Amino acid sequence: MEHFSEEDLGRLLSKLQLEEKVLLLTGRDSWSLHPLPSIGLRSIVVSDGPAGVRGDVWDERSPSANFPSPTALAATWDRAAVRTIGWGLGSEARRKSVDVVLAPTVNLHRSPYGGRHFEAFSEDPVLTAELAGEYVRGIQEYGVGATLKHYVANESETERFTVDVRVDERTLRELYLLAFESPVTEAGSWLVMSSYNSINGVTASENELLTRPLNDEWGFDGVVISDWTAVRSLESAHQAQDLAMPGPTSAWSESLLEAVRTGDVSEAAIDRKVLRILRLAARVGALGGPSPDVPAPVDVRMIARTVSISGSVLLSNDGILPLPPAPSIALIGEGARVARSQGGGSATVIPEAVVSPADGLRRRFGEDAIAWAPGAVVDRRPSPLPLTEVADLSGAPGVSVRYLDTEGVELGRETRRATTIVSFEGSSMLTRAATVEMSFRYTPRRPGSTPLAVIGLCDFEVHIDGSAATAGSIRLRPGDDFATSVLTPPFTAIELPVAAGGSDVVVRFTPVPGGVPDAVALGVGSPAPALDGDALIAEASALAASREVAVVVVSTSAEVESEGFDRQTLSLPGRQDDLVRAVVAANPRTIVVVNTGAPVVLPWRDDVAAILAVWFPGQEFGDALAAILSGDAEPGGRLPTTWPSAENEVPVSAVTPVEGRLDYAEGIHVGHRAWLAAGRAPAYPFGHGLGYTTWAVDSIEAPAALEPYAGVRVAATIRNTGARCGKVVVQFYLERVSASGVDRPVRWLAQFETAHLAAGEVRAVETTISGRRFAHWADGWTVEPGAYRVVAALDVADPGKHADLVIG
Ligand code: BGC
Repeated sequence: MEHFSEEDLGRLLSKLQLEEKVLLLTGRDSWSLHPLPSIGLRSIVVSDGPAGVRGDVWDERSPSANFPSPTALAATWDRAAVRTIGWGLGSEARRKSVDVVLAPTVNLHRSPYGGRHFEAFSEDPVLTAELAGEYVRGIQEYGVGATLKHYVANESETERFTVDVRVDERTLRELYLLAFESPVTEAGSWLVMSSYNSINGVTASENELLTRPLNDEWGFDGVVISDWTAVRSLESAHQAQDLAMPGPTSAWSESLLEAVRTGDVSEAAIDRKVLRILRLAARVGALGGPSPDVPAPVDVRMIARTVSISGSVLLSNDGILPLPPAPSIALIGEGARVARSQGGGSATVIPEAVVSPADGLRRRFGEDAIAWAPGAVVDRRPSPLPLTEVADLSGAPGVSVRYLDTEGVELGRETRRATTIVSFEGSSMLTRAATVEMSFRYTPRRPGSTPLAVIGLCDFEVHIDGSAATAGSIRLRPGDDFATSVLTPPFTAIELPVAAGGSDVVVRFTPVPGGVPDAVALGVGSPAPALDGDALIAEASALAASREVAVVVVSTSAEVESEGFDRQTLSLPGRQDDLVRAVVAANPRTIVVVNTGAPVVLPWRDDVAAILAVWFPGQEFGDALAAILSGDAEPGGRLPTTWPSAENEVPVSAVTPVEGRLDYAEGIHVGHRAWLAAGRAPAYPFGHGLGYTTWAVDSIEAPAALEPYAGVRVAATIRNTGARCGKVVVQFYLERVSASGVDRPVRWLAQFETAHLAAGEVRAVETTISGRRFAHWADGWTVEPGAYRVVAALDVADPGKHADLVIG
């Protein structure tokens, strides 16, 4: 940016023709903007996050680091740790020539049923805003833009393109806007993404909220990019909506040019948008000149591993953890072998390799220490055909793919090491082809009649050893939308007569429209086995009984936690609860590793020896887990979201719109505030997490009086009462003491600090609570005079130690 002053940008703007300006306001394709050679502007490339940087292709040949998902980041409660993730993303973006990362997601976990919560940080706006700010800073230090999304009130997925969220201004300001505010005003995010939903009757890309508070109050000088297709009409051109994605056509395109020519939209409105995109271009180095001076790339694997450890939350532990040296372990769970490192949807990245729990534990404890059993069927979607069982036409692991046009003329061919291929690129061979032919030599472990899943929205024919075997059609499922049609594509299972020694298989796909325009996902896989649940559980229990310790990895699946839909239940899918009960009956020394992006109910929680929530931990999952179980490292996480005891206890559960509207009727009482207001005890409260030592808050010091709107310095004296060094997260909550005419939460999070203390160490952990944290919204931020209590606690349910202060 330093190479271009605002005057320079103004000069560049003045050189542009109207046609060029309007062209710039809609994407060139799914992941890039138009270049404007007349002013030396190259194309700006954008890519999803937030758990990695996918790049402008969805292709296993261009792998990406997969970092822990944002719930795991939030569970660190550690600004410095989240900053390192920003560096990791910045490094990845530069390696992949990406200018803008479409992350972080700062929507709140309003209800645990929200299907996309793994992508967002927390139910708490302060924790979200603070950590999102670090994430933004880390990315932008690399000269790469961060995108706060989805602005605003986009907390659930049901009817996500059309839902009208009804929410009062106070709730918006104190919760949902607050999560965006300091990442804009303090961290200075270069982009904000407008959401699909409406807020109080007006769709986000046309909503006044883009002007006030975002621009007028917060001084945002960056680009408001739309969520994909969220620009719906010319109305948004009048608003502070700057860029319509994806391209090459949008609701703006030609009609916007026409509207400016007829005077319906002013050229000044267009100039304002273009100038912002030019400012972004200058920031990311897309306007030429010397490349931005950015830090060296960081070690992404090390960061992914360290942050996974730091965000893993030890929910309970009867002393079994850390494990003694050389344990013999029954490792149980489908997810112990095929790791679920990330949630599904647009956030998906394709890592080069994922360290599964089985890999990590074998590496740490030795091959013989670990015996595995699947225990339960979790994922009912097809899995990729193992590369050990498929060979392309040259005999190498993989499949050969030919792309044909409507005349049968070959557009191109390639070999792939993935058995499902995806493209969001209108110009790719996959999206242009009328027919896609996938050929491979198939040698499944057990030949004969072999189930095969055919995947994607298509008509298909399957040929085996030169003869037609079967044909069929796959269409959208009820409820499929824009994203699910490609990201969790429909499939059908067929039986293939595979010869002993293998067969040559050709699958000819004819893609059919109906899903995402210009996007295709096609492939083959192994259907989930129809295994006998009782037999799997019996096998796992027998294994558990034969070993010193059982480690059960339970998880959600892509069918349950992905973009595009909400969760129907908070229970673990399949028979995993039965599995845990049976395993613990066989061996009380059972540790459960919960591998989900959001809270689940754990009905057996009081019966097992330890529970560790690892979230979606990213590609270094297994090594991080082994470090924790062995005690090489401490699980440093604290819950960023309340874990409910039972579904019927959840205070905010409505995520299904009624007649198109979703009422945020609970107002400011969301998450831990709602649990406290209802007087209910969850399974594990917000802020809870044990680690490997124990803590006491000895005292807190704060001044007795405070001017309204002034910040306050407080210090909590913390004691490590255990026998090993550890990480503490000191949580500072506020409460209203004197009577107040204003409805306030019972207590609310105002600040937090992490510290590492040696065994027995006592330390004063100091922090500043800003004046704003005392305020509520009443047509403006207002601090009510009176008595407030500052509490230093180890979770939201902990009485902790308090000091009272009087304001005014
Ligand atoms: C998601 C966004 C994402 C975009 C591009 C949308 O469906 O809501 O979060 O950035 O797709 O993939």
